[in-house]
Amino acid sequence: MSTNLRSVGILGTGSYLPANKVTNFDMEKIVDTSDEWIRTRTGIGARHFAADDEATSDMATKAAIKAMEAAGVTADEIDMIIVGTCTPDMLLPATACLVQSNIGAVGCAAFDLETACSGFIYGMEVARNFIACGTYNKVLVIGAEKLSSILNFEDRKTCVLFGDGAGAAVLGPVEDGKGILASELGADGSKGMVLKVDAGGSRMPATPQTVADRLHSLSMDGSEVFKFAVRIMGSSSMRSIEKAGLTLEDIDFLVPHQANMRIITSAAKKLKLPIEKVHVNLNEYGNMSAASVPVALDEAIRSGKIKEGDKTVLVGFGGGLTWGSCVVQW
Ligand code: ACO
Repeated sequence: MSTNLRSVGILGTGSYLPANKVTNFDMEKIVDTSDEWIRTRTGIGARHFAADDEATSDMATKAAIKAMEAAGVTADEIDMIIVGTCTPDMLLPATACLVQSNIGAVGCAAFDLETACSGFIYGMEVARNFIACGTYNKVLVIGAEKLSSILNFEDRKTCVLFGDGAGAAVLGPVEDGKGILASELGADGSKGMVLKVDAGGSRMPATPQTVADRLHSLSMDGSEVFKFAVRIMGSSSMRSIEKAGLTLEDIDFLVPHQANMRIITSAAKKLKLPIEKVHVNLNEYGNMSAASVPVALDEAIRSGKIKEGDKTVLVGFGGGLTWGSCVVQW
């Protein structure tokens, strides 16, 4: 790598949660489940569902505006918008283009990136490379999902796990020694079918039968995803820490993907971090896929849990199967 690459960091963050909070007790009325089962197996106590007329781009726009305010950046300064999502408003145009129009940043590059729950960390890494080499200065990276739009509310194994929301960050150049110190992205497409939405793409276009068979909903082999997640959260984080030339003792805080408390606890244990040094919000929001990491990051920053000088690990995994991690120095 050339030595004249710029250091890249997070200049500001924002998040948005839809108003409608749905507790586990509410879910008991929809599907054969219980608050006790959901809490003990996952750690989830509630989730927020977007309104019928509220789409992914609407939530993404609200998070983006907050992130730009926090960064002190105006729409005309944004050079590129990346939206990580597996629940775009529609197949075409990209949700990023809708957000671009909403915030008044017309003219900049804008595209969606689909790596499910790893979407925000993938987006950060794409942004980092464009900024590091000087092509762009300010990139808006968003993770936004309306997962309630692809849930099968007759499948208790999946519908209790997910929620809707959006998180965003503005990335830009920072002083040397700060910002993203190292990162890792990865995927194992050979295991892609353990987490999927079968219909609606080119292999199985929508028909009355695919709708009747609920093939437009998310389906998942939960225990396979669980085993993968436990392994990858720790190992990917460790590789990013090593790439940054750091050791476990240097790490101050962890912002993990919010899928299951048992997965988070296992990652914290591998990084030798007490749970107070980990931001956890799945009790309130469930798994928001690409939105989970940026919403958690925004909360951790705004609440003062992440402080100047802290070295923080962000790590996620998701459909694909994909994963990503990075170490950020504040
Ligand atoms: N309420 C009550 N009972 C339930 C529920 C529910 N909501 N869901 C499943 N059960 C039952 C099952 O039917 C099963 O009963 P049976 O033994 O009579 O058949 C029993 O509970 C155990 O089911 P398992 O699926 O084996 O439960 P497990 O302990 O594996 O927990 C869970 C399931 C929570 C999904 C776990 O596997 C998990 O967290 N996996 C990881 C999932 C994940 O991280 N997904 C995120 C991917 S993110 C993305 O990219 C979109």
